[in-house]
Amino acid sequence: MGSDTLQPLRGMSDIRAPDVHLWQHLEREGRRVLHAYGFEEIRTPTLEYASLFRRAIGDTTDVVSKEMYSFRDRGGREVALRPEGTASVMRVVAAAGPELMDGRLYYLGPMFRCERPEAGRRRQFHQIGAEAIGEPNPAADAECIALQLQILSAWGLDGYQLQLNTMGDPDHREALTGGLRDRLRPLLGELCEDCQRRFEANALRVLDCKNPHCRKIVEGVPPLTEWMCPDSRAYFDQVRDLLDQLDIGSEWNPRLVRGLDYYAQTVWEITHPALGAQDALCGGGRYRFSLDSRVIDGVGFAMGLERIIMALKAMNGDPVDHAPRTQVFVVTQHPSAFRENLVLAQTLRLRGVSCGIDLRGRSFRKQMRAADKARAQWVVIRGEQEMEEGTFVLRNMEQGAQESLEMPGLLERLTTVLSIR
Ligand code: HAM
Repeated sequence: MGSDTLQPLRGMSDIRAPDVHLWQHLEREGRRVLHAYGFEEIRTPTLEYASLFRRAIGDTTDVVSKEMYSFRDRGGREVALRPEGTASVMRVVAAAGPELMDGRLYYLGPMFRCERPEAGRRRQFHQIGAEAIGEPNPAADAECIALQLQILSAWGLDGYQLQLNTMGDPDHREALTGGLRDRLRPLLGELCEDCQRRFEANALRVLDCKNPHCRKIVEGVPPLTEWMCPDSRAYFDQVRDLLDQLDIGSEWNPRLVRGLDYYAQTVWEITHPALGAQDALCGGGRYRFSLDSRVIDGVGFAMGLERIIMALKAMNGDPVDHAPRTQVFVVTQHPSAFRENLVLAQTLRLRGVSCGIDLRGRSFRKQMRAADKARAQWVVIRGEQEMEEGTFVLRNMEQGAQESLEMPGLLERLTTVLSIR
């Protein structure tokens, strides 16, 4: 095996202890809040037909045209590793029909985008995302934002900024892009090459070009609401009003356009100043999909877990240790006690106690060291003498106190101190 086969692909990472404990904590807390808002988990395949993403996200978006991992499988089908989760959820909703037309679904898992890796930009990254299906309703948009902020708060993250904008009614998109193009046309020659290409295919994307010269030009462009119908403006006002009502501070950023084509009405991003160039922690918005003659309205968001962890570490230094603690470690002081100790460990584990035991006949000292390493709360020690007496020594590892107990007393004591059934 060459040394390169020991490495993951560029832009992809192994996640192991102690980091994995923080990941598990974030996932647990995220799920807890999502359940409080009535969302149910959905797990979709990581590999889909590439045409799904092209149709749902848009052919001209960077995500699809430049970053998608697509290839032909052995049967010659063009498939792609999912670059995000919304398209797959929409496929499921469209296939399910009325059953999911009011669905509240969330997902959690790896996404793939073949971008140039840098801090906060990975080729495999992980999202927690949520989609609330249903007719446009400003209250649903505000609730979705509130949910996202509650997840951030459950994770102990603050200092972020919520930026909002509106893309208006999707049925009036032509008026919007037309107005923007008319405004930009006299300046077309001054825009960067990318923007000159985008001008026809996806004029809205010019608004978030990173080129400093394009930025300057765009500063003079009026907000998109200028070309929107009164209903779309009223919709946006209602969302902002409801956010005020919920005491959620936000900033209107009229240049905010998202990198995916499916958005309609409200869009938002949450950024964090600790993150540097890739500062978006979360992105979301309302959308309308037309898939296989079904129209699906909904609102949703996704949060990038790698960036969340970067922000937490930047804020708190070493984050709190979330490693699960071993409750009991069974130590065999004499080989004659091993078989019965193994049975004891099994009995405790069957009752749901996390329990460690040495299987290799190591010395007493090494077993005690292993118990320390496992951060065991209690140690049960059994050697020749205890075997003869039919007892066990139970030691409280925090206080150092120990007592000698027979089996029923030991189980009773552990049941009480560990609150097990
Ligand atoms: P997105 O803005 O493309 O939206 O991605 C959401 C979040 O995923 C970003 O804010 C960021 O934290 C993280 N992310 C994206 N690309 C990378 C990367 N290369 N490396 C690390 N993290 C990354 C969506 O994906 C939409 N599906 C969100 C949505 C759901 N809108 C409505 N429903």
